[in-house]
Amino acid sequence: MPPEIVAHRGSSTRLPEHTLAAYDLALDEGADGLECDVRLTRDGHLVCVHDAAIDRTSDGTGRVSAMTLAELRRLDFGSWHGGEPARVLTLAELLGLAQDRGARVFVETKHPVRYGGKVERALAAVLGGYRVEAVMMSFSVFAVHRFKELKPDVPTVLLYDRLWPKHRPHFVDYAGPGVHLLRRHPDRGQGAYVWTVDDPADTALCRERGVRFVATNNPGETRERLAAN
Ligand code: G3P
Ligand code: CA
Repeated sequence: MPPEIVAHRGSSTRLPEHTLAAYDLALDEGADGLECDVRLTRDGHLVCVHDAAIDRTSDGTGRVSAMTLAELRRLDFGSWHGGEPARVLTLAELLGLAQDRGARVFVETKHPVRYGGKVERALAAVLGGYRVEAVMMSFSVFAVHRFKELKPDVPTVLLYDRLWPKHRPHFVDYAGPGVHLLRRHPDRGQGAYVWTVDDPADTALCRERGVRFVATNNPGETRERLAAN
């Protein structure tokens, strides 16, 4: 079986990351799943933003955690990448799209230390409102553990950046190495979630090694490469 294609922040090479347009395009291009990063606003909403601050991806400045959703909604998250103006995307809105289009969603929680517990509880609550196959992911083993206790039926990915341990805890369903770690340990690829796979040689390696999910910024090209092999 070829790997499932997970659009990393949407079709984020072509359109501004974490916008509804980028996710919509990713599904048009043949993505099976959608990856997003989530952060808590000051008033407790989960929004799809990667960085702690909004400076890189909007026309505003400051930390997500210091702003309310209403304040974020006044900003433009689309024009920085040459896209159409776009509002900040909430996780609820992304889940609505995924539900309508039958896509899986891979939600990576950020700031697990400062808001540990709160962010996992907020995620569990939002997921309860949608019929979507969701997967929870984090670089923090504590965050994955806390979430699994709240939502045992939702699969989890523990992300690895520097090291890829041979064994994973029982509450982790999939190993989530960076592709640099797969190159170092190709024998461990079977069933893994691998990020971020944009290079054709890496796509081929993932396929050869039985990787289950590839996260890519380029879902259209990845789909074509997998179809050609
Ligand atoms: O899919 C996992 C990957 O997104 C982790 O890295 O920094 O892009 O969130 P980052
Ligand atoms: Ca991410």
